[in-house]
Amino acid sequence: MAGVTDNDAVRPDEAHFRTVMEPFRIHSVEPLRMTTADYRRAKVREAAYNLFQLHADDVLIDLLTDSGTGAMSRDQWAAIQHGDESYAGSPSYFVFRDAVRELFPFEHVIPTHQGRAAERILFQALGGPGKVVPSNTHFDTTRANVEYTGAEALDLVIEEGHDPALVHPFKGNMDVAKLETLLVQRGSDVPCVMMTVTNNSGGGQPVSLENLRAVAEVAHRHGKPLFLDACRFAENAWFIREREPGQGEREVADIVRDMAALADGMTMSAKKDPMGNIGGWLALADDDLAAQCRNLLILTEGFPTYGGLAGRDLEALAQGLREVVSHDYLRYRIRSTAYVADALERLGMPCLKPAGGHAVYVDARALLPHLAPLEFPGQALAVALYELGGIRSCEIGSVMFGRHPDGSQAPAAMELVRLAIPRRTYTQSHMDYVIEVAERVMSVKDDLPGYRIVHEPPQLRHFTARFEPIG
Ligand code: F0G
Repeated sequence: MAGVTDNDAVRPDEAHFRTVMEPFRIHSVEPLRMTTADYRRAKVREAAYNLFQLHADDVLIDLLTDSGTGAMSRDQWAAIQHGDESYAGSPSYFVFRDAVRELFPFEHVIPTHQGRAAERILFQALGGPGKVVPSNTHFDTTRANVEYTGAEALDLVIEEGHDPALVHPFKGNMDVAKLETLLVQRGSDVPCVMMTVTNNSGGGQPVSLENLRAVAEVAHRHGKPLFLDACRFAENAWFIREREPGQGEREVADIVRDMAALADGMTMSAKKDPMGNIGGWLALADDDLAAQCRNLLILTEGFPTYGGLAGRDLEALAQGLREVVSHDYLRYRIRSTAYVADALERLGMPCLKPAGGHAVYVDARALLPHLAPLEFPGQALAVALYELGGIRSCEIGSVMFGRHPDGSQAPAAMELVRLAIPRRTYTQSHMDYVIEVAERVMSVKDDLPGYRIVHEPPQLRHFTARFEPIG
């Protein structure tokens, strides 16, 4: 029916409506448990000021991650009823495989229980001591899986990607000249090139088609396959549509297919854009590498037609993939993230610019200049957002990155707090509440205490470290 589906042709007439409303209504609800600031102060003290240690029902608005926390649609829940749990050759696998190939036409589609399992398998096959894997910016689990094999994980994001205040349309782009130099100097050590779309560790920033094309050209000229870490591919494609010259009239699904056509394979966390609560995959073109990966899959994930997932999960993901490329959905999604970022900026809370696709990143170093980096300004802000308003966010700064393998400490490059927005889960009034809590935080920011770590594990300390306020 003309004018009823994702029809951009009707938009210009409607430009006078400022509200970009949620393109869905609510079908099933989950209660939020209201709490008081005193209750939350007690709970966060019990949790040793580590927000990962809270019980989730003590959180009002959970912006810890956008991973696996989205709301599934009516049609996804209906698809679950089609799940076939056969160990081998389940029809649900073929539904899933075909939905993946509709957007990413790779010959081999290998399901995994989540993204990091795909990464482990890929780098077990391609990594090893002496190797180096370049990316724009490796996500933590990608980096960890590369390094676990003894290889080096190298970040080659463009210079602009390092400056939180700088506005650039594609801050996730890779520095192509640096990639060329690496391949000239150490080509035989490079098994593949990775590109993270959008670039989560760099602030949810997109990569342009032009940059992807240039990276693919350099990689292929040196005989190297290009793999996408494609968790947020639809958000990336929407940014391309909005920001890249000549792309504004195109279907997002076509832009995604263009991205896929430049690559030789992908790792995927289906807990992000594919709208799943769990899942992932590895897809690739090369037959020999696929055979090797399937053998590794069987060791820990399962038979290649289910790979650690239930048939019902595969069905839900197939449906999620159809939904996420909707223009109405993506317009709302990207606008709702920018809505929060714009409001925080107006309050004077400095954010990484421009707003990312899935999250707003607050620059806690700029916000709390009275705290030294090793007094953990990001942690101070995250604890304040929880105590004052029950909002859970995630420190991405010196708590997460400040401890080196030899036990020494050094400040991280940036002190960020990520407010990651789960897909289709919260409404605009939830976000207005978040903005109001931020306003309250602004009024007390100069008095927020720093934190010291009183106990920490040797690795990945942010999950379990115990903190104490200073003074
Ligand atoms: N790659 C990127 C870019 C990611 O953001 C994540 C997960 C993964 C890979 C790993 O996927 O969790 O399914 O194993 N990011 C989540 C986050 C955890 O909060 O940003 P996974």
